Amino acid sequence: QVSWKLEDHPILPKGKTVALIVLDGWGEYKPDEYNCIHVAPTPTMDSLKQGAPEKWRLIKAHGNAVGLPTEDDMGNSEVGHNALGAGRIFAQGAKLVDLALASGKIYEGEGFKYISECFEKGTLHLIGLLSDGGVHSRLDQLQLLLKGASERGAKRIRVHILTDGRDVLDGSSVGFVETLENDLAKLRDGGVDARIASGGGRMYVTMDRYENDWDVVKRGWDAQVLGEAPHKFTNAVEAVKKLRENANDQYLPPFVIVDENEKAVGPIVDGDAVVTFNFRADRMVMLAKALEYQDFDKFDRVRVPKIRYAGMLQYDGELKLPNHYLVSPPEIDRTSGEYLVRNGVRTFACSETVKFGHVTFFWNGNRSGYFNPELEEYVEIPSDVGITFNVQPKMKALEIGEKARDAILSRKFDQVRVNIPNGDMVGHTGDIQATVVACKAADEAVKIIIDAIEQVGGIYVVTADHGNAEDMVKRNKSGQPLFDKNGNLQILTSHTCQPVPIAIGGPGLAPGVRFRNDVPNGGLANVAATVMNLHGYVAPNDYEPTLIEVVKN
Ligand code: 3PG
Ligand code: CO
Repeated sequence: QVSWKLEDHPILPKGKTVALIVLDGWGEYKPDEYNCIHVAPTPTMDSLKQGAPEKWRLIKAHGNAVGLPTEDDMGNSEVGHNALGAGRIFAQGAKLVDLALASGKIYEGEGFKYISECFEKGTLHLIGLLSDGGVHSRLDQLQLLLKGASERGAKRIRVHILTDGRDVLDGSSVGFVETLENDLAKLRDGGVDARIASGGGRMYVTMDRYENDWDVVKRGWDAQVLGEAPHKFTNAVEAVKKLRENANDQYLPPFVIVDENEKAVGPIVDGDAVVTFNFRADRMVMLAKALEYQDFDKFDRVRVPKIRYAGMLQYDGELKLPNHYLVSPPEIDRTSGEYLVRNGVRTFACSETVKFGHVTFFWNGNRSGYFNPELEEYVEIPSDVGITFNVQPKMKALEIGEKARDAILSRKFDQVRVNIPNGDMVGHTGDIQATVVACKAADEAVKIIIDAIEQVGGIYVVTADHGNAEDMVKRNKSGQPLFDKNGNLQILTSHTCQPVPIAIGGPGLAPGVRFRNDVPNGGLANVAATVMNLHGYVAPNDYEPTLIEVVKN
């Protein structure tokens, strides 16, 4: 039985409006021309850094600090927002899948048994992101699963690939497809009929999120399930090379692999098994719904095969989606959001569509909906659809800032929490100039919110979930930008392993509050206890320690 009552903070008062601003993809890195945050005019964030040294610091946002397998794993928004909201570090999907594969437990679980009953007569389809980015999926996990499934009776396997170029370098898709083709050839040598069946770029095919654009999922469905796509090839390496002439990895159009009679080699049919091998939820939920739901009206599925479907993980615990899965997801309980609401903290959360679930669902430990609708309001501002964000780098930053401002000035809320996506979403396009504009817009949004906090005598906390816009090039070990064999700068579209800033301030901040210096390795998970303090509470014992202390003057 959880005791939800939080202890009062011995010094800090209750009732101050706290604005909690998460800049998405905003890390700290050396100031050079590829650091878009440095290049952009960001007077508000600069002033926070320069203003009061005891109210600005860096915290870790990658690797073990956010529950990822190794210190080489860059942070991402899912694990970042989980840590920010939960106040503790949970082993995340990437790590849980690694453990399950290493111990073999993955094959003993209910999910694998369920799908393996199709191996005798049906085909095993594996759908997911093909890269070693480690954000949504990992190639080595796919490789182990292919091997493990064929050793356990899968006789016919079809892989439906989604090319990346977002968590890894653009252009790297070719190498990943070659590696996969090699593995599949080896399986064929061992008597397993294993092939790539379809493909497409992750941002154009299948991996939409938060129901932003169902057409993306439909394009994938047509290729993967129906075996229909505008582009037909007999070989996946050739497909990717050819399609890259007009698009980058993220946006490759859908294609299917066909045999000599132009017939798709791997549509999904009755009696087949399907596994979506991404461990991360946000960009698999929509496909999972299309595969699993009887009643489904988001697009015309044309043909709905009777399959056995399992996710690598269960993507949504509330919806039990999908019903079957190979590895149990982290159980993130007792989040700061739930504690605060149960202690009467009236909470407002807002972002635009592409990051709305981050500041609500991920923040709340992968839980959708309100804890108490009487005390909470979550506002989603519709994102622009059908463009890449370098075309509209300001995105909805201003609107988010204004919504937060209105929420603060209304005095109806104790916590006003936003995610400002620009640095991340535009950073992922690899367009440096646009990312500079994006960072400027994000900074302006911060100013709107901080100004409102000044007006109501509140407190602000500004931080970020992981790095992205602060470094837009791939570098060697000594930090020099790398060039490809044609002499072109290697643009970094992915996140980084850099730390992120956290700043506190505002007229409501009690005198003497400052960052402690005895939490040098503080990370995102330390923010929750900090915020609880600013609301006048002490965090539960098992939370990562607060970053602040109150000194008597
Ligand atoms: C994406 O899904 O857009 C990227 O792979 C990761 O970005 P996010 O972790 O910032 O959402
Ligand atoms: Co991102």
